This record gives sequence, structure tokens and C-alpha cells, in this order.
Amino acid sequence: MMTRVVRGTASETSSPGQGGRPIGVFDSGVGGLTVLHELLVRLPREDFVYLGDTARFPYGERAPREIERFAAEIAEELLARGAKLLVVACNSATAAALPSLSRRMMQTTLGLDVLGVVRPEALQAVASTRSGRIGLLATPTTVSSRAYEQAVHTVDPHVTLHAVACPDLAAVIQAGEQFDERALATVREACRPLQDAGVDTVILGCTHYPLISPMLQRMLGPQVTLVSSGAALARQVEHALSTRELRNPRTEGEGEGEYRFLCTGDVEAFRELGTRFLQMPLGEVEHVELAAVEAVA
Ligand code: DGL
Repeated sequence: MMTRVVRGTASETSSPGQGGRPIGVFDSGVGGLTVLHELLVRLPREDFVYLGDTARFPYGERAPREIERFAAEIAEELLARGAKLLVVACNSATAAALPSLSRRMMQTTLGLDVLGVVRPEALQAVASTRSGRIGLLATPTTVSSRAYEQAVHTVDPHVTLHAVACPDLAAVIQAGEQFDERALATVREACRPLQDAGVDTVILGCTHYPLISPMLQRMLGPQVTLVSSGAALARQVEHALSTRELRNPRTEGEGEGEYRFLCTGDVEAFRELGTRFLQMPLGEVEHVELAAVEAVA
């Protein structure tokens, strides 16, 4: 009997020998380090290069066109540094810019794939809900993009998404005030509409929110499932590397891969904040100036 092997387009665009290149990860700042943390745990043999656009943080109330341009600039930098795959570890950037960035990267000679945080969370949330009522906490840009509605409804059109835009929450968490009264009041206000709607699953639609998940869980109640992107996205990245034959050839005996950091703002501030978000030592952080891009596809 003959077996015909059908290969997808992504395998055709990757060539052998690219596995040793790093995975490029980016965010508006340090929040994406909560996602990188999961990638480091799940994919210990891979190398990573992380870029935090700290000079332009926050993205959460910016116009989608502006974020598309920022994402394109960052992607060009990571491409120049040899990235074999791009991970958008930022919900606002995924929501606003993933389609345009994917188109742009597919046009490069390598046909680079781009993975974002919205889809893995949407899949997880639909799988978890029993009532069909899902809550979303995210930045205003992410909520108004309706990217989560689209992603959730692609999986199950009968599910209802109750989205709450939280303009200040990421900044409050980033300022290190996640345990003070102001933070408590901000979180309580964000949770109220979700409690009123009787959701049984809540998507943490911003990279900063996993840092306050104990507080959220306490306010929403133990019966509510909190969904964050890190672990599910890491599984998706692992799958993408395998199917595209892009896994790092490093063996167990050769130890763990390397990770390094770039940021557009102050290097010391990144290092100080970053350790709290990554929960691992940070090491070298390099300042980078991004080149302006011609046009966004
Ligand atoms: N990484 C951003 C996000 O997930 C943090 C918030 C912001 O930049 O406004 O949306």
C-alpha cells in the first residue's frame, strides 16, 4: 500500500538547519516575560531573544495602526537577529496587529510564522466553560479590537463573551502596587460586571494579569476558572516548531538554551522590573533603537 505524505505550506518555507536560531518574543514592555517564563519551562533546549518596547509602553490605549507599525519595526529587528519564529507575547499587539504582521512576515524570504496570545486563550476558555458565559479582562485596545469575540466564536458561536476594558490595571501592576488599596479597588471594579454576568471562566487578556491571579481568584470565587496564555501558547509554539522542523538540535546533555533581552527604554529599569515578571535571573539587557519601517502591509 502506498502512503502519500502531504506537507503544509509552512514546512515548504522552512529549510533544514534553521533550528539553531532563536525564537523571537516581543511585548510592549516587561509583561510578556510572564509568557516567556512558560516558554522557557516548556522548551528548555531553545534559545530566545526577547524585545520589550519599554520606551513606548503602554500599548493598551493606542490606535491599532500605530501598534501595527510598532510591531512591524520590532519584527524587523528580531528578524535581523536571526529569529526562526515570532511570538507576540502581548495581548494588545496580538489583538491589533497579528493579521498584518503575519502577512508581512510571510513575505520575507524565510516565510516566518507569527504566533499570538489570543487564540490559545480563546480555545482554552471555550473548552473550560460549562455555562457558556466567558469573561474577558483586557486593555481598551484589546477589547475594542473584538479579537477575542472572533476567536471564541470561531470555536463556538453560542458562547457569550463579557468583555471588561481595564485602562489602568497594567500600569498599576507594573508600578509594583499590586497589593495596595488602589489595586484592590481597581481589580474589584473590573470584576463586578463579570460577577453580575455570572461567568464561570475568565480570560486574563493582558500579560500583566497573571501576577494578580490570586487576588482575582479570591474576588471571583473558586468556582471560576482563570485562563492565561502562557502555558497554552508554549504548547502551540512547541507544535509549530515540530511540524516546521524548526526544533533546536541541542541535546539534553548539552544543557539548556540561552535567552537574552533587548529593550527600547532604560536598561536598568527593565532589569529591575523584569526579574519580578520572569521569576528567573535576567542577565544581560541591551538597549536597542528600532528603525522606522516603510509601510505596514
Ligand atoms: N503587554 C500589554 C498587553 O498585554 C500590557 C499592557 C499595555 O501595554 O498596555 O496588553
